[in-house]
Amino acid sequence: MSSPAAQERRDGVQLMSAVLLLLLLSLSGCYSMDVLVPGNINALNGSTIKIPCTFTSCYKMDTTKFSMNWTYQESLNDTEELLMTYYRKKGMVPVRSERFGERVTFVGNLEKNDLSITLSDVQVEDVGIYNCYVRNPPDRIQGHGVIQLNVVTELTPPRDSTIAVAIGASVGGALALLILSMVVVKCLRRHRTQELISEEKMEEEGKLEAEGVAEEETKQP
Ligand SMILES: *[C@@H]1O[C@H](CO)[C@@H](O)[C@H](O)[C@H]1NC(C)=O
Ligand SMILES: *[C@@H]1O[C@H](CO)[C@@H](O)[C@H](O)[C@H]1NC(C)=O
Ligand SMILES: *[C@@H]1O[C@H](CO)[C@@H](O)[C@H](O)[C@H]1NC(C)=O
Repeated sequence: MSSPAAQERRDGVQLMSAVLLLLLLSLSGCYSMDVLVPGNINALNGSTIKIPCTFTSCYKMDTTKFSMNWTYQESLNDTEELLMTYYRKKGMVPVRSERFGERVTFVGNLEKNDLSITLSDVQVEDVGIYNCYVRNPPDRIQGHGVIQLNVVTELTPPRDSTIAVAIGASVGGALALLILSMVVVKCLRRHRTQELISEEKMEEEGKLEAEGVAEEETKQP
């Protein structure tokens, strides 16, 4: 039979050790498995897009125990299609599928806990959810990152027509300017020739007058 005092002491010791354990855990800066991914990615069709996934873990990656899978699903409740998986001997290996063919490539770095992939020649049908599952024993938690990929289509025809309109407008504008300047030049020239003609007339009239005067002078001795 333990006395109430002994019981209290034991409780105290238990509490102390719990506090100490928590303190040690927080001091070591060790956080449990966490998978870091962007929630959303927008990609232009035809382009190559990186789908990032990194993780944190208390433990350094043990390549003999580590496992990871990339999967794709059209929407939340659809079945998951395997894109890429990790093999102990071969490392990261893309899984060929009808949908993705050989468009999935590993671009991460296992030593840096980087599991990122790229998807090349993005298709409109690639829209959906990309899952990054990570297990890094002895960490017991299975990490799970979820990425929603949206595909933006390049609007080629409208852009072309706006360019055509822009070109048409500028060519038309240039032509209009050219015609306008030609008209202006012609007007100016006509104006000037008129002036010249009148000047010549005046000069000639002046000459005639002067000659007339001269004649009159010569007539009169
Ligand atoms: C992107 O999608 C649009 C519309 O479906 C298509 O016209 C265009 O050719 C595509 N571009 C590429 C590079 O696949
Ligand atoms: C990846 O898939 C394999 C086979 O389905 C499974 O055994 C493994 O637990 C999976 N790993 C992760 C991290 O989901
Ligand atoms: C997915 O399935 C669950 C039940 O299995 C259902 O409640 C939920 O509405 C479904 N979600 C979608 C997007 O279909």
